[in-house]
Amino acid sequence: MMSQHDTIRAVQWKDNHLVLLDQRKLPQAELYVELYGADDTAEAIRNMVVRGAPAIGITAAYGLLMAARKCYKQYPNDWRSRLIAEKNVLAESRPTAINLHWALERMMRAAHEEVADPIALLSALADRIHKEDIEANYEMGKLGSALIKVPHGIITHCNTGSLATGGYGTALGVIRSAFTQGKVTQVYADETRPWWQGSRLTAWELQRDKIPVQLLCEGAAAHLMQSGKVSWAIVGSDRIAANGDVANKIGTYSLAVNARYHGVKFMVVAPTSTIDMKTATGAAIPIEERAQDEVLSVNNHRIAAPNVQAWNPAFDVTPAKLVDVLVTEKGVILRPDAEKLAALMQGVI
Ligand code: MRU
Repeated sequence: MMSQHDTIRAVQWKDNHLVLLDQRKLPQAELYVELYGADDTAEAIRNMVVRGAPAIGITAAYGLLMAARKCYKQYPNDWRSRLIAEKNVLAESRPTAINLHWALERMMRAAHEEVADPIALLSALADRIHKEDIEANYEMGKLGSALIKVPHGIITHCNTGSLATGGYGTALGVIRSAFTQGKVTQVYADETRPWWQGSRLTAWELQRDKIPVQLLCEGAAAHLMQSGKVSWAIVGSDRIAANGDVANKIGTYSLAVNARYHGVKFMVVAPTSTIDMKTATGAAIPIEERAQDEVLSVNNHRIAAPNVQAWNPAFDVTPAKLVDVLVTEKGVILRPDAEKLAALMQGVI
C-alpha cells in the first residue's frame, strides 16, 4: 500500500535479513544498513539508524525473528530460553518508546506456541506487525484529517512520518491525508533540536512527497501561533500513560502549552501499540537522556563554549489536560483521560 504522498519505506525485510534506511545520514545521503541478528539490530536502534516509536517496534520484531532463527538452529532443544537473552538486548536498546516492548512481548508470546515451524510463525508475525502499523497509520490519517475542517497551516514537531513508522506516518499520516483533501495550506516543521528530526527528516519526507513545508526553530512556534498562521499542532508519541499523559520528543510539552494559550488545537496521533496501560501516569515514563555532545556540537563541530556542560533529555511528558484530541486506529478520544483510555483499550489488550 503506497500512494503519491507515501513513497518511503525505512524498514524492509529482504531475503531473510533486515534493511534499514540510515536516518543518521539523511538528507545528504540515502544509504542502507543490512542487519543479520539481535546485536546489530539493537545497536542500530541505539545509534538512531532507525528511530521513531513504531519503526523501533517493527525493527525489534525482525531483530527477534533473526535471533530466534539463530537460536533454533544452534540449540534446537533449548532455543526458547536462549532467546530470552537476545530479547533483553533488544529491549534495552532505547528506554522511552513502549512500541519496542509491545512488539517484543508479542513476538515472545508467539515463540512459546507449540507449532511445527516456529520460525515461519515468527516470520509471519513480524510481517503482520509491520503491515498492521501501516494500516493503522492510514486509518488514523482518515480519522485525524476528518477533524480538520478549514484549510489552514499546521505545525508539527520531530519526525512522525514514513521514516518513524512502518510507512505513511502517525501525525504526518494525518497531515498527508489532510493535504490530499486540500485542507493543508502549509506545514510548519519545528527543526527539532538537538537531533534535527524536523530539518533532516520531516522536511525531506514532505518535500519528496510534494507537500509544502517550512522549517522554523522551536523558539519561533509561539510567535507563529500568535500570527494566526496555524490552527492545529499535530504530533506523535513514544508512550502514552493510562491517564493520557503523552511522552514525545523534547519540546512537545512547550508546543502544547503554547498551543493552549493561543487557542491552537493540539492533536496527538498514535497507534494503540503506543498506549501503555501498565504505566499509570506520565511521571512513571522513563525519559531517555542522551549524550551531551548532541547539544554541544553540530555535525561533530563544537559550538558551545569550552568546558560548558549540557543536559540532554530526549523526551518530555505533555499532561493529558493539554491534549485536545487523541487519534488512534481504534478511534478518536476528545480530551483523553484515564476512563476514556480504559474504554478504548478494552478488547485491544
Ligand atoms: O528520538 P526519536 O527520533 O526516536 O523520537 C521520535 C519521536 O519522538 C516521535 O515523535 C515519536 O516516536 C512518534 S513517531 C510516529
